[in-house]
Amino acid sequence: MTNNDTNDAMTKQTLLITGGAGFIGSHVVRLLVYKYPDYRIVNLDALTYAGNLENLRDVEHAPNYVFERADITSPDEIKALFEKYRPDGVIHLAAESHVDRSIANPLAFVETNVMGTVNLLNAARNIWKDDAGGKRFYHVSTDEVYGSLGEEGLFTEETRYDPRSPYSASKAASDHFVRAYFHTYDLPVVLSNCSNNYGPNHFPEKLIPLIINNIKQDKPLPVYGDGKYTRDWLWVKDHASAIDTIFHKGRTGETYNIGGNNEWKNIDLVEKLCDIMDELLGKPAGASRRLITFVKDRPGHDRRYAIDASKLKTELGWEPSIKAEAGFRETAQWYLDNDAWLQHVVSGAYQQYYNQQYQTTGNK
Ligand SMILES: NC(=O)c1ccc[n+]([C@@H]2O[C@H](COP(=O)([O-])OP(=O)(O)OC[C@H]3O[C@@H](n4cnc5c(N)ncnc54)[C@H](O)[C@@H]3O)[C@@H](O)[C@H]2O)c1
Repeated sequence: MTNNDTNDAMTKQTLLITGGAGFIGSHVVRLLVYKYPDYRIVNLDALTYAGNLENLRDVEHAPNYVFERADITSPDEIKALFEKYRPDGVIHLAAESHVDRSIANPLAFVETNVMGTVNLLNAARNIWKDDAGGKRFYHVSTDEVYGSLGEEGLFTEETRYDPRSPYSASKAASDHFVRAYFHTYDLPVVLSNCSNNYGPNHFPEKLIPLIINNIKQDKPLPVYGDGKYTRDWLWVKDHASAIDTIFHKGRTGETYNIGGNNEWKNIDLVEKLCDIMDELLGKPAGASRRLITFVKDRPGHDRRYAIDASKLKTELGWEPSIKAEAGFRETAQWYLDNDAWLQHVVSGAYQQYYNQQYQTTGNK
């Protein structure tokens, strides 16, 4: 029996989260499962290299949680799951998300991020065609669609799209499709574009966990180009809470920028992480900074991203909860405390978890 069979009677509404086994998705799933015990939360994820069900060990037996392994690039699989659960809302996070991988294989990003999104839009349209009242399709996107800023200025919701990498181009295309379904078919959509996230469960190919992991192993700390690329960093649990706010209170058809008001040049961020790790590991001050190594730049590297999130604050009253230093420290401590999680990701052992946990028990 799946969790799904146990809780139909008490369900107020069903939310389908795509990409819920990924970095941000797992924080969104956890928040919703605990905060809304009367919602049924369906986590739809293909479990690519980036999907890790070990991120959700604490919620996997919750009565209001169901996992479905499915691929958003398959229209038939998606249509069948929408007909099975008839979700009242969709929060769409599933994506290929790593810029360097998009440079190596752009087509995979078109398939998942563009075609996968259109498959979901079609499936939602199909089940909501007679009555879309109270329904909502929430598309989670990135500030990278806006391109690159100079030393000054911020991205607003009106900033012209100017994607520079295959990743951001695919996310931009998916955003356009979501808005097109709102205008063409009256599909009740809402969107958000968010800055760089950091925090627990981040796949160690991304900058912050990579630096923390390399410091632990006394390995070189690669920094692209001159290190002066600037990003706005948002605590992942703050992103999850912003998604909850926008999903429930955002206006249909609108876009909301989400940011941490927390700009860092890459080199300053890496040095800050070195200092925090030296302290946590009891190393002499400056020890980890000696590992910093400048490496050949990424092609088409955007210089600076920074978000104006004032619409979200003024309209919906949402603001980030955590200050940078505290968030970086908590993240470093999490990676030190969760070495087994990290080792399973680095060795690939996390990919066995689905088979152990789900297939051998007969559960979905
Ligand atoms: N990480 C960031 O800093 C950031 C910032 C802004 C926006 N976003 C957006 O947030 C979303 C989530 O990002 P993330 O960092 O958690 O990504 P992630 O790579 O950690 O997770 C993506 C998840 O999607 C799943 N997935 C991939 N292809 C799939 C497919 N074809 N069918 C079903 N599931 C599939 C993966 O298995 C994984 O669980 C993405 O849409 C991304 O563009 C990310």
